[in-house]
Amino acid sequence: MSWGAIARMGYVCLHSQDLTAAGDHAKSILGLTETLRTGNGIFLSSAARLHHELVYLDAPSNAVGHFGLVAADLNGLDSIRLRVREAGLRVVAETPLLPGVADGFSFEGPEGFVYEIYVDMLSQSYVPLPHRPERYGHINLHPKNPTAYAEFLVKILDFKISDVIGDGFGYFLRCNSEHHGIALITGRGTLHHHAWQVQSLVQLGELGDRLWEAGSRLLMGPVRHGESGRNIAAYYVEPTGAVVELYADMRHIYDDNAPVNHMSSATIDWATQWSKYDATEFRSHGVLPTTEIITSR
Ligand SMILES: [Fe+2]
Repeated sequence: MSWGAIARMGYVCLHSQDLTAAGDHAKSILGLTETLRTGNGIFLSSAARLHHELVYLDAPSNAVGHFGLVAADLNGLDSIRLRVREAGLRVVAETPLLPGVADGFSFEGPEGFVYEIYVDMLSQSYVPLPHRPERYGHINLHPKNPTAYAEFLVKILDFKISDVIGDGFGYFLRCNSEHHGIALITGRGTLHHHAWQVQSLVQLGELGDRLWEAGSRLLMGPVRHGESGRNIAAYYVEPTGAVVELYADMRHIYDDNAPVNHMSSATIDWATQWSKYDATEFRSHGVLPTTEIITSR
């Protein structure tokens, strides 16, 4: 249940210079099911059985195409349309960018990331793969100016700030009870990771096994995050260069008016309680956004 104009996280659309590799990896490692293949795109979903939660579109270079966010209802959609216009943000399209969605529009947010706000995505009927995640959960961006980015998410999209790290080094924001739907950590302007909920720690071990058997490895984890969600998580790098997180046991905040939690940036206890790690390589991965719009055809 949400309090504002956005009900939940919707989907991630990535541009991929190797569509086959990206799609195969999402199925064999992440465990998504292909729901639609078009001339230039692959649409995938988890046990949520939606028309799409992850989309790869064929492109000359790897990039973030856009992020889909689900409006609470048509009133929520209309109010965000109005706020986007009043804020002078560039509207990219007045209708949905991809098939499977009843109504929506898209605009360019801060630092070149495009957002589609929509209602009523079609559901799909299939038996999910045994190693599937339960649903798409959140994104972690590394903006150059996280404070300005957090202000955008609060003012335009009704997100609430769950945590602040240091003096504007990072923010965790939620659009419903789940601790974060969008996390912002100071960086070079990339999508660092997209994250998928699984049932337990067991699935994180099985992810490590699948990667090993495919000749690869986890990038980090399993870890227990500290204050920043308290979830258990493991990470790997997908063919586009984006990091993927599988997580379980994320904290929920049921008090809509819960005070903002402030954490120190002097330690990384907020990020990991089970082990120490050097975040240099972890933070080096990610995908830059593009404002070039590619539609499915
Ligand atoms: Fe995450």
